[in-house]
Amino acid sequence: MIFVTGGAGFIGANFVLNWLAQSDESVLNFDKLTYAGNLNTLKSLQNDPRHLFVQGDICDTAVLDSLFAKHQPRAIVHFAAESHVDRSIHGPAAFIETNVNGTFSLLEAARKYWTGLSDEAKAGFRFLHVSTDEVYGTLEADDPPFSETTAYAPNSPYSASKAASDHLVRAYHHTYGLPVLTTNCSNNYGPYHFPEKLIPLVITSARAGKDLPVYGDGLQVRDWLFVTDHCAAIRRVLEAGKPGETYNVGGWNEQTNISVVHTICDLLDELAPKASGSYRDQIRHVKDRPGHDRRYAIDARKIERELGWKPAETFQTGLRKTVEWYLNNNEWVAQVQSGEYQNWINLQYQQG
Ligand code: NAD
Ligand code: DAU
Repeated sequence: MIFVTGGAGFIGANFVLNWLAQSDESVLNFDKLTYAGNLNTLKSLQNDPRHLFVQGDICDTAVLDSLFAKHQPRAIVHFAAESHVDRSIHGPAAFIETNVNGTFSLLEAARKYWTGLSDEAKAGFRFLHVSTDEVYGTLEADDPPFSETTAYAPNSPYSASKAASDHLVRAYHHTYGLPVLTTNCSNNYGPYHFPEKLIPLVITSARAGKDLPVYGDGLQVRDWLFVTDHCAAIRRVLEAGKPGETYNVGGWNEQTNISVVHTICDLLDELAPKASGSYRDQIRHVKDRPGHDRRYAIDARKIERELGWKPAETFQTGLRKTVEWYLNNNEWVAQVQSGEYQNWINLQYQQG
């Protein structure tokens, strides 16, 4: 079986659903269920004996020790994290706790468990750490994209905490020989994305008749990858990646934020037209994110060359699927927008 952390979040849950759609190997899904974790996303697995869900914190080494001893995973796929840059600006402590201390606890538990395995099981074991392109900092318009050898230069508390976790993972390979793999991926989008992030925020706010907040001039650039393509990349790295290596994962799809918002509005105008006017009328430029990285871009040639992975979706096909998914899943949206979500929206957007 494989042990997945953060498997009730956006990418983790997509990964678990995709994994069990193509494999009979069981998943132990370990997740704290913070505001970002959602068991509704995993509803279809409720009676599936291949999916075991345990609520818990990756900082809790004792629980990890006993779960590893009992279930003997052959791999750990580590998604669990605090993931939202804006929240890291308002409250960085949780990011240090989960992303740095939590990854450290998980590595310690993994090392202890791995050390006690047979030579054969030890050689086959993998610790796959899911990280981000944000560790590389920001690019100028004409800089080459981030490669695996680009120097780390994180700019937000979120990216600094992820960079720290990447360094710990690397050190556990170098010092102890733990067979680790790290992936650094660009911006994901797709079904089950929590509507604090740009794409799901814009889709759900547009439908609710609310303002569509664009930070600053909206000319910041991100590389966008459909979430199932990221899941496929992780499966491929787990299967064939070389321990100790890092792999950049990206969509070859750089877009300015304003262009992403325009495309979403145009799709909504086609699929769910308003009585009058366009969804574009709801766009508002609001104050910029402090320290906002201007541009991210990923050179994903290594994973293509060495492991044969490349994205299957284009931005056009992926974004259309995403908008359609949100239009067809009102119940999921309503549930994630209840409770804590409204407090966050008030805190983040109150000053316009
Ligand atoms: P998310 O915020 O949607 O989900 C995170 C999950 O981790 C939640 O289910 C949450 O309950 C769980 N969690 C948080 N703290 C925990 C703890 N202490 N112990 C156990 N579980 C805990 O995040 P996501 O967007 O799915 O991102 C998953 C991973 O991928 C993160 O490591 C993130 O840094 C990385 N990543 C995300 C993107 C992106 O665009 N979303 C891109 C590249 C890399
Ligand atoms: O690059 C990978 C990263 O992508 C991941 O590591 C993070 O976990 C993930 O959250 C994402 O970070 P970003 O900060 O790029 O994503 P977000 O959706 O928050 O913002 C995307 C861009 O849109 C960014 O330039 C900020 C801008 N933005 C965002 C929000 C929420 C707006 O203009 N308005 C908004 O309201």
